[in-house]
Amino acid sequence: MAEKSFKYVIVGGGVAAGYAAREFAKHGVKPGELAIISNEAVAPYERPALSKAYLFPEGFARLPGFHVCVGSGGERLLPEWYPEHGIELILGTEIVKADLAGKTLVSAAGETYKYQILIIATGSTVIRLTDFKVQGADAKNIFYLRDIKDADDLLGAIKAKKNGKCVIVGGGYIGLELGAVMKINNFDVTMVYPEPWCMPRLFTPEIASFYEGYYGNKGIKIIKGTVAVGFTTDASGEVKEVQLKDGRVLEADIVVVGVGGRPLTTLFKGQVEEEKGGIKTDSFFKTSVPDVYAVGDVATFPLKLYDEIRRVEHVDHARKSAEQAVKAIIAAEEGKTVEEYDYLPYFYSRSFDLSWQFYGDNVGDAVLFGDNSPTSPKPKFGTYWIKDGKVVGAFLEGGNPEENKAIARVARLQPQAKSLEHLKTEGLGFASNM
Ligand code: FDA
Ligand code: NAD
Repeated sequence: MAEKSFKYVIVGGGVAAGYAAREFAKHGVKPGELAIISNEAVAPYERPALSKAYLFPEGFARLPGFHVCVGSGGERLLPEWYPEHGIELILGTEIVKADLAGKTLVSAAGETYKYQILIIATGSTVIRLTDFKVQGADAKNIFYLRDIKDADDLLGAIKAKKNGKCVIVGGGYIGLELGAVMKINNFDVTMVYPEPWCMPRLFTPEIASFYEGYYGNKGIKIIKGTVAVGFTTDASGEVKEVQLKDGRVLEADIVVVGVGGRPLTTLFKGQVEEEKGGIKTDSFFKTSVPDVYAVGDVATFPLKLYDEIRRVEHVDHARKSAEQAVKAIIAAEEGKTVEEYDYLPYFYSRSFDLSWQFYGDNVGDAVLFGDNSPTSPKPKFGTYWIKDGKVVGAFLEGGNPEENKAIARVARLQPQAKSLEHLKTEGLGFASNM
């Protein structure tokens, strides 16, 4: 079987891989030095588009429109960009074995790839209801969303089941974004999740009540405090009904499941130190194994601002961690060093006409400001999180770019809060006047 050898190999061809490639190119990587091995069939793209514009009935996004690095306002790296820069893009190739001591990867087809330096950028996979042995969860038309193939499968069903009924299982990012997109596609949408309010990882009850109210006004039904325990199918094996733990039964032509992600670390189990479910790295994304780096969703890294180690499953960190790792690799080769990664957590989402951003940490007391009425013609509200007298996190719905920058600044600088009441009255002004 074929054996190929590279100075640098990136395993995984998602967001982090694309941004790492651009960074290598900036540093003048030589032809034949770098390979990206991906089991996807397409060059790295901005994954967030899949749960948003990719699924719109009109004005939809398609490749090559959203290849990296357009998501952060950068150059679009078309598939031909890679060979033009001497980078080997090995697509449709799954790595099934990694020997970190022997610096070797093996693909499903049996090819061997040798490297001097490895960057692990395998991202996450979805948690499936079949993992919990939910009865009937392998029925046709039950969808998950991780890659472009999943999105294409869902698009096929949206066409086939026009104006049908859709049940969304999960009230996190996928649940909220897909609930909206399915409604925009004219489906009769019901969302089901176990918690008392949506997006409990981040939202306070007051933030959630706005989105739940807004979705309700759009005609989306929300069922909370229960889970899907079974699915029935028709004669062709297509999903027909969703059975809930509380005894209710919902009709469904399509089910979309978003019950969380799991970092893809299995290839490296037992060979590299792990923590908090990810591959443990330092501030330069170096793992416990020499010459092996891990970036994006799989990395558990030091979050300097909070003196903690964490894993982050969001695109901004995927981009920045990839850039940091490449800068550190090149600097080390030149006998130089780079500054430690000093990340400010940044999450965002968009659905319908809504758009929110969050920066920092959602710990301590939360103060809501602004107008969070779901019937408001132009809703604009936010929340500050205050810990030990300091503002450590900020959320804003409906902000303009300047205002979003202002809340980011607050989360970074962590100013002292006079009192919770003061913050409530000052509202966005507290951030804007800093
Ligand atoms: P990513 O998942 O992008 O890439 C991993 C790559 O590795 C994939 O190409 C995969 O096929 C490949 N791979 C894995 N194992 C392999 C193997 N053994 N061999 C070969 N290849 C392998 N975040 C955000 O901040 N805002 C947003 O709006 C969204 N929206 C969003 C929508 C959807 C549908 C998803 C699924 C995710 C988001 N995210 C997001 C999260 C964000 O996209 C995510 O954090 C980044 O894509 C992570 O980048 P990585 O490069 O780490 O993994
Ligand atoms: P998530 O962690 O955001 O939400 C999971 C949700 O699943 C929970 O909130 C809960 O409501 C629900 N849940 C858990 N077990 C359940 C069960 N048995 N039945 C019903 N509901 C259950 O995960 P996700 O929404 O699946 O997203 C997957 C990944 O994609 C994450 O890494 C996420 O960060 C990423 N993503 C991010 C964005 C964004 O940042 N805007 C958008 C889409 C996806």
